Amino acid sequence: MSQKLKVGILGATGMVGQRFISLLENHPWFEVVTVAASPRSEGKRYEDVVKDRWKMDTPIPEGVKDLIIYNVNDVEKVASTVDFVFSAVDMTKDEIKAIEEAYAKTETPVVSNNSAHRWTKDVPMVVPEINPEHFDVIESQKKRLGTTRGFIAVKPNCSIQSYAPALTAWMEFEPYEVVATTYQAISGAGKTFKDWPEMNGNIIPYIGGEEEKSEQEPLRLWGKVEDGEIKKADCTVITTQCIRVPILNGHTAAAFVKFRKKPTKEQLIEKLVNFKGLPQELELPSAPKQFIQYLSDDNRPQVQLDVNYENGMGVSIGRLREDSVYDYKFVGLSHNTVRGAAGGAVLCAELLKAKGFIQPK
Ligand SMILES: NC(=O)c1ccc[n+]([C@@H]2O[C@H](COP(=O)([O-])OP(=O)(O)OC[C@H]3O[C@@H](n4cnc5c(N)ncnc54)[C@H](OP(=O)(O)O)[C@@H]3O)[C@@H](O)[C@H]2O)c1
Repeated sequence: MSQKLKVGILGATGMVGQRFISLLENHPWFEVVTVAASPRSEGKRYEDVVKDRWKMDTPIPEGVKDLIIYNVNDVEKVASTVDFVFSAVDMTKDEIKAIEEAYAKTETPVVSNNSAHRWTKDVPMVVPEINPEHFDVIESQKKRLGTTRGFIAVKPNCSIQSYAPALTAWMEFEPYEVVATTYQAISGAGKTFKDWPEMNGNIIPYIGGEEEKSEQEPLRLWGKVEDGEIKKADCTVITTQCIRVPILNGHTAAAFVKFRKKPTKEQLIEKLVNFKGLPQELELPSAPKQFIQYLSDDNRPQVQLDVNYENGMGVSIGRLREDSVYDYKFVGLSHNTVRGAAGGAVLCAELLKAKGFIQPK
């Protein structure tokens, strides 16, 4: 039997890091061998550091409890223990840019959850069902970095995963104007109600930097690889409002769309439920069998009922109907720390392995 690839988690003690560790327990291809966090956690046992702030529903995996935490900044030391790393650290953008490049330069692929490199021209930002061909820019990136196997790949922001997949499924009808309001869970800020009690019964109409990401990142997903760079698309104008709501997990979006070629409602539903991509064709371990489900009941999707659809890797759409100002409106829901963060990155890594970009060192 072939050996599993050895994985390190940068930011392993945080909300997204914990999600990586949970999702990778018993993963058929990847094994967490190294955990890294800030200098505050360096040298301590993983369980000792996270036991009072473990935020997952399942217990800390046995295989990780006794690992001694490395300092993320000890790049050579961490890199020497692994085949590739997942990155979910809370540092400044410039620090993250620098440290992720430093890892790549040690010939260690970095699959990142952070936003720092999402607009670096030769760094692919991928939802595997939507734009797997963007991984082709990795060859140009490696030339720039002077590496043979080291590179950075990223996944997009959690907020767009509740509406961008539906818009992608409808691309042939040419959606050209979109208004979306997102209702975002507190885990998106790395928090639970225990550490953010002010969110009980509250709504905060501001999430720093989120609206720009929500408006621009879908255009990058729909962009093309040209001359070794990703050129973003300009087919659609998107405007958003992003609002923090008292929900633990699950980002909901209410969206309005105008199409150049207005379809019927039946055509739109047919495109949603039949939308699939390489993860489904290749039967990747974390791929949802059905990427997008359509729920016809008027009171769906609901966070409590639908956030864990396809183990949190699927997207739920409902309330699709004609609108008097726009052509159609709908509501979407996705799990922000699974599909929107760690799960989306694990699926990227599975596709990168399947395509030969990540191999044992
Ligand atoms: N939560 C989400 O749904 C979500 C979704 C998409 C993207 N993101 C992004 O993912 C990243 C992590 O988010 P999170 O919610 O997991 O944050 P978090 O819970 O605050 O965790 C932050 C992690 O970074 C480490 N860290 C903090 N300061 C550091 C430093 N100076 N040097 C090295 N490591 C440091 C922490 O280690 P210690 O425990 O030692 O302090 C911890 O492991 C952020 O960039 C965030 O914007 C989050």
